[in-house]
Amino acid sequence: MTDSSSNKIAIVTGASRGIGAAVATRLAADGFTVVVNYSSEAAPAEALTREIEARGGRALSVRADVSDAQAVRSTFDATEAAFGGVDVLVNNAGIMALAAIADTDDASFERQMNVNLKGTFNTLREASRRLRDGGRIINLSSSVVGLLQPTYGVYAATKAAVEAMTSVLAKELRGRSITVNAVAPGPTATDLFLNGKPEELVERLAKLAPLERLGQPADIAAAVSFLAGPDGAWINGQTLRANGGII
Ligand SMILES: NC(=O)c1ccc[n+]([C@@H]2O[C@H](COP(=O)([O-])OP(=O)(O)OC[C@H]3O[C@@H](n4cnc5c(N)ncnc54)[C@H](OP(=O)(O)O)[C@@H]3O)[C@@H](O)[C@H]2O)c1
Repeated sequence: MTDSSSNKIAIVTGASRGIGAAVATRLAADGFTVVVNYSSEAAPAEALTREIEARGGRALSVRADVSDAQAVRSTFDATEAAFGGVDVLVNNAGIMALAAIADTDDASFERQMNVNLKGTFNTLREASRRLRDGGRIINLSSSVVGLLQPTYGVYAATKAAVEAMTSVLAKELRGRSITVNAVAPGPTATDLFLNGKPEELVERLAKLAPLERLGQPADIAAAVSFLAGPDGAWINGQTLRANGGII
């Protein structure tokens, strides 16, 4: 546990699996008290919370769909009630549905907008009102904002919007010593990336980066840890692409 991070409280959205779970684990190891948010299945979030506590950390799992503004407010309420305040927000909850724009139905467009964009807006609005001075906000974007491949149109659009809000909010929080940054992973070995992709496609995509492998959730968590911790203090309003050099 590092002195500078002990007694600081971090909310990580979508932390029951994948990158969010790795971020929660890493921030707990860094000394943060961690709120493990999820929207559907409680069991993995509760298991992660117990794991963090077994290692001597403090954690709480909170169910909330980030696309629901009231549920987001309740998550901040629950965090303040349990731990006294919020210092760090990691906006990680996200979904991806790939299809050509011609083949994207309204429901798929709305789901991705609601979770990735409105969800991020909901948590950013709450954090900008309630984060303690000196806090950190880290949004998860994606390197597809640079790659812009076919079938990623709606998903990439939600993440481009997240990057825009990142830079705007960094300026709006002038005077409060709160940094706002985004981390934009490339292909990373989680359900979101792997589900529905044949093995040969996964292997081909893994080789695209000059480092010739998929990112692991811990690789992304390390970048988030840097931005949340003391060494990231001077980075503000930026998007850090953590992708093995794919773009
Ligand atoms: N994996 C990649 O290659 C990659 C690349 C670039 C960017 N990203 C971004 O990284 C972030 C994490 O992705 P991942 O790959 O770790 O995804 P994942 O393995 O599918 O995990 C997603 C997490 O988000 C939660 N979640 C989904 N919808 C939610 C909602 N409405 N409210 C609250 N929580 C919700 C899920 O929990 P429940 O199931 O309980 O809802 C789960 O814990 C996303 O923003 C994604 O866009 C991923």
